Amino acid sequence: MMNFQMFVFSTCLLLTSMLAKEAETGSCPKLENKIFDNLVDMMVAIKSGSQISGTSNEKDRPAFTATLKSQLTFSPGAPIKFDTVILNQGKGYSPKTGIFTAMKAGLYLISATVMSNGGAYLKAYISKNGVNLMNLYGPKIHGGTETANPVLHLEKGDKVSVKSSGSYRVYGDNYSYFSAVYIA
Ligand SMILES: *[C@@H]1O[C@H](CO)[C@@H](O)[C@H](O)[C@H]1NC(C)=O
Repeated sequence: MMNFQMFVFSTCLLLTSMLAKEAETGSCPKLENKIFDNLVDMMVAIKSGSQISGTSNEKDRPAFTATLKSQLTFSPGAPIKFDTVILNQGKGYSPKTGIFTAMKAGLYLISATVMSNGGAYLKAYISKNGVNLMNLYGPKIHGGTETANPVLHLEKGDKVSVKSSGSYRVYGDNYSYFSAVYIA
């Protein structure tokens, strides 16, 4: 790792000084600026560790995906418990409560899809700390879906869930799902 980093740094320095010399002669200033900018970006990326340790960052990144397997009727204000967990990096999601808790402050992309069941409509909403942020409606047909994809800034400990607005049946069999990923 260190050797690679040092190699990239010295290559950057070498190219930078070469470009600086060429710039004195005044040839292709636009192209040089572009190359120089790319080199600066590269050095910044390496310094911040995003290229070298990208793989371990991916594993640390809070992210989850869960689907609803069961056919359930939810009571008003109750979180829909997406019970089949496909991914749960950082263990922020609980299938027992249906609640995602941010273990780390930052920007998150949330996504939820609900499907209506048995020809009845359903209403649900994205809840952040108990506040209704966004509504979801499943039309009065069997298998009507709606998706919401809010991008939210969450503080550590903030809770996001999909709540049923009334006593509605939600179609399971993995046709309804909930996920979130930490973006930055
Ligand atoms: C739902 O997904 C789980 C695993 O993700 C799988 O085991 C199960 O068979 C699926 N159920 C249906 C009804 O598709």
